[in-house]
Amino acid sequence: MKDASPATAPKTFYLKDYMPFGYDAESVHLTFRLAPETTRVISRIRFAPKPDAADRTFFLHGEELKLISAKIDGQEVTPELVEGGLTCEVPGAPFTWEAEVEINPAGNTALEGLYMSNRMYCTQCEAEGFRKITYYPDRPDVMSTFTVRIEGDEPVMLSNGNPMGQGEGWAEWHDPWPKPAYLFALVAGDLVNHPGSFTTKSGKEVELNIWVRPGDEHKCAFGMEALKKSMKWDEDVYGLEYDLDLFNIVAVDDFNMGAMENKGLNIFNSSCVLASPETSTDANFERIEAIIAHEYFHNWTGNRITCRDWFQLCLKEGLTVFRDAQFTADMRSEPVKRIEDVIALRARQFPEDNGPLAHPPRPEQFQEINNFYTATVYEKGAEVIGMLKRLVGDENYYKALKLYFERHDGQACTIEDWLKVFEDATGRGLSQFKLWYSQAGTPRLKVSEDYADGTYTLTFEQSTPPTPGQPDKAPRVIPVAVGLLSPNGDEVRATEVLELTEAKQSFTYQGLASKPVPSILREFSAPVILERETTNAERAFLLAHDTDPFNRWEAGNALAKEVRVAMVLDGAAPDAAYLDALEKLVRDDDQDPAFRALVLTPPSQSDIAQTLFDRGHTPDPQKIYDAAETFTQTLAQQLETSLPRLYAATTVDGPYAPDAEGAGKRALNGRILSLLTRLDGGEQAARQYQAADNMTQQYAALGALLKAENGEAQSQAFFGQWQDDRLVMDKWFALQIACAAPEKTAATAAALTRHPLFSMKNPNRFRAVFGALAGHHAGFHHASGEGYQLLADNLIALDKLNPQTTARMCAAFQTWKRYDAGRQSLIRAQLTRIAGTDGLSRDTTEMVTRILD
Ligand code: ARG
Ligand code: ZN
Repeated sequence: MKDASPATAPKTFYLKDYMPFGYDAESVHLTFRLAPETTRVISRIRFAPKPDAADRTFFLHGEELKLISAKIDGQEVTPELVEGGLTCEVPGAPFTWEAEVEINPAGNTALEGLYMSNRMYCTQCEAEGFRKITYYPDRPDVMSTFTVRIEGDEPVMLSNGNPMGQGEGWAEWHDPWPKPAYLFALVAGDLVNHPGSFTTKSGKEVELNIWVRPGDEHKCAFGMEALKKSMKWDEDVYGLEYDLDLFNIVAVDDFNMGAMENKGLNIFNSSCVLASPETSTDANFERIEAIIAHEYFHNWTGNRITCRDWFQLCLKEGLTVFRDAQFTADMRSEPVKRIEDVIALRARQFPEDNGPLAHPPRPEQFQEINNFYTATVYEKGAEVIGMLKRLVGDENYYKALKLYFERHDGQACTIEDWLKVFEDATGRGLSQFKLWYSQAGTPRLKVSEDYADGTYTLTFEQSTPPTPGQPDKAPRVIPVAVGLLSPNGDEVRATEVLELTEAKQSFTYQGLASKPVPSILREFSAPVILERETTNAERAFLLAHDTDPFNRWEAGNALAKEVRVAMVLDGAAPDAAYLDALEKLVRDDDQDPAFRALVLTPPSQSDIAQTLFDRGHTPDPQKIYDAAETFTQTLAQQLETSLPRLYAATTVDGPYAPDAEGAGKRALNGRILSLLTRLDGGEQAARQYQAADNMTQQYAALGALLKAENGEAQSQAFFGQWQDDRLVMDKWFALQIACAAPEKTAATAAALTRHPLFSMKNPNRFRAVFGALAGHHAGFHHASGEGYQLLADNLIALDKLNPQTTARMCAAFQTWKRYDAGRQSLIRAQLTRIAGTDGLSRDTTEMVTRILD
């Protein structure tokens, strides 16, 4: 009996097993005969055996396909259907493979392959969805040109590349650029376009379109401008031009991720492209601009140069995130963008890197690749590129990038190719640097200092805790940007990048008149956790005087954390000196409002929990919540007399515009309103709600009122006003949960799952509810365990429809080992229950198993 492993035992794929496919795919012709439940896909593919192939197995991936017929060079053949695809005897010389399959888009709730969303046909092929469309070598290193014919009675029928012709009931498309199948896309339905155009630097006119469902036309203008800005920026900064006559974006309501860079036909989650002042917040506008840029930038970093295999995912994602962050910094504020990114990194990537799901930016194994579209691959992948740029300098960075595009255009590449380009362009060896790609875990950087007779020494010690499968870590190259300030606040040493390469290393500064105050890890020059014994007085000094804006914020953030930790551990009162420093900063109108808003944003409660855990304590979510409440209440009282003036001073007059300056002011205004609401019970918030002509202010007011448990009337009005707008309704669902008291969070979420507008089939709606639940630290981790149970119930139900979104949301449990034995056993019980579910998907099985281990 001991060999009776389940038939579905998930297979593990390893980087070390990489083998090229034995055939080139020279051209691909696809015909789609659209029908909701019985779409026919006819493929005609020219294959040529590779002369030097080590393995000539002709294996085509295929899943959930009904094979109707197959031919080789016009002769019927009978392929052998095997697990995950088919094999077939094929000639030793070039041949034409033809297959006809039937698929069911309407029944496809996994939203992978060809599916239907609101009666519209659309596709998502990355990573391995094309195999649900037809039999194909569905791997990124097989690149081919695609010609596509779509037959159906949909008014608009789109695919990649340039249009070749269309008539009654058909449309033909041709993409001249060889691409892997994961970049294939097809869209068909009743769509309207918001048109635009862009002239490239070499004078080519490109037609642009954003395609939406009728009724959403008024939400396209901002996205169109963002697209044009992205096209211009990529020319100006990287010298990269667009390469087709047409660029289409389509908005889709049901989508597992944010957006997808299909060649010439980007498909977006509607939440990541549709925007209007009445329905979108400032944060939405900024995110939409960034995602449009991200997908557009993929045209070069991803499409023209793609990945050899999925282990190399960060080759395109890390680089493209890095590029979109540069873009946002240029369009808006560089320090604000950096601070926002570090907040997000700590909120999403650090927990991953310091828990059971830790993996390197280039993983070496996976069961389901969709589980590796992670903060580590994306955001840490981008941090690694930021470090590389800092180490080689700007000029060398752009020199290396130029070489990358020259050398690898049209290829499917690896991290080794990427690093080689830097080595060749700069003459610098990067073998130790490469550890950032292979080692998981966040390095700890312990700093100590010494001063005597004008000589100042900083000593760094690096270490990385073990992560799954990696007990021992080697020292990495860590660029640490350091500046020194004199005790009166002058900068006595400008920023310099210290390069750590050893486990322990010292750096010396000579000729200082007095002991300086160090500003370490400026601009967050490396994704590490800095550990340094220092005083709150020194942190307050840096908050007031540091010349590096990031570190000024960081000092305030560290201070905020220390104060809360002391409140949680010792029941201390909020630190008076810190309250004074905050008050001074908030009232200082010479300071950027966006910066002030960021300093006023409390550290996340999950972050406090992790800090407590790292220092050997067991975090109590309720105590952390109470400390946060007490702190904010005390701050509101301290600011009492200035709040009305501050509120008035930060109110933006005139018509709404989603620019960075207005957004910064509104962010500060929102923080002020939430403080004010603690004192006036919601009078001002109710007035703001009433008067708001934009979603940023309407949403801020509603949030403040719900938090004060005084927003029932406005919540109902909000529902009445926006019930027909799915994206605004997502906000309504999420906000009620986010603002609920911890003991009511799970019940609020549960009640919302019974609301007629709740839907399991729409990932945005599911995430609105359960993302908000998981994001409410004290509510999700309430001692009752109701939050855990509710999430588990719903993950089990969702897994049958949509494994990908289910698996991603399992990450809510990844921090479970931080907590007390009671909570751990509650969570373990839920994870075990999920794991034991009959027919659980490969995706969710992998996630739950890794989290439980
Ligand atoms: N490449 C897309 C992006 O970065 C993400 C799509 C991933 N989709 C998925 N199902 N894994 O923008
Ligand atoms: Zn991407």
